[in-house]
Amino acid sequence: MNSNNQPIGIFDSGIGGTSIWQAIHKLLPNEKTIYLADSKNAPYGQKSKEEIVALSMKNTDILLEMNCKLIVVACNTATTNAIQELRAKYNVPFIGIEPAIKPAVTHSKTQTIGILATQGTLNSELFNKTTEKYQDTKIIEQVGHGLVQLIENGDINSAEMTKLLHSYLTPMIEANIDYLVLGCSHYPYLIPQIKKILPEHIHIIDSGEAVAKQTQKILREKVGFSSAENSQPIFYTNTNTKVLTEILENKFTVEEKEF
Ligand code: SIN
Repeated sequence: MNSNNQPIGIFDSGIGGTSIWQAIHKLLPNEKTIYLADSKNAPYGQKSKEEIVALSMKNTDILLEMNCKLIVVACNTATTNAIQELRAKYNVPFIGIEPAIKPAVTHSKTQTIGILATQGTLNSELFNKTTEKYQDTKIIEQVGHGLVQLIENGDINSAEMTKLLHSYLTPMIEANIDYLVLGCSHYPYLIPQIKKILPEHIHIIDSGEAVAKQTQKILREKVGFSSAENSQPIFYTNTNTKVLTEILENKFTVEEKEF
């Protein structure tokens, strides 16, 4: 496979997909990445499938105009509702992020796992087809109402966040889950707080590393790796840059862009 110095495009309904970007950047530091945060339209989780598909196509068009060689849909809601339509329309590889149900079910000893995700993800056909396969495990689904909006507002450590997390996680603890799947790319930023609420024996699974490995595999097999060294990422947001800059710990420049 020849080298390919075109960028990797990544989009999310906002800042949460940076958890996926971090995993990709760590594994593939030579790849140039362009990240689009569609915070103006967050959360996607409460929108109709048609709206999610249209927004995902708008984001894809922008990334392809920027010459991206591969698109990472760093949003569970967009993946579960729109990835089939994206793959059908565009001639570029797409990597999606789906809730990591399989590893949780495989390793669960109590045969009870919890999943915290958006309404859009839990209602999607793709998600329901996945869970149907695991009839022997009790899967406790919980919509994380309000969590994405608080993260987008920069209120990760607020009292309201703690209250919401307690109310979503307590029934799962009582039901004896031993794995909690984070089915939204925003939620890994809540791991420190979630750990304070969950007993130690409950494992938390997010999908960042798996997405990064899948990206590496597609580059190796189909697209080609960058031959550059330590490429600088580019971040765009369509709202103000403050929260995205902060979540990136002020290490990278974020540009405001209309889209
Ligand atoms: C949302 O926009 O509702 C959350 C993003 C996700 O599902 O990963």
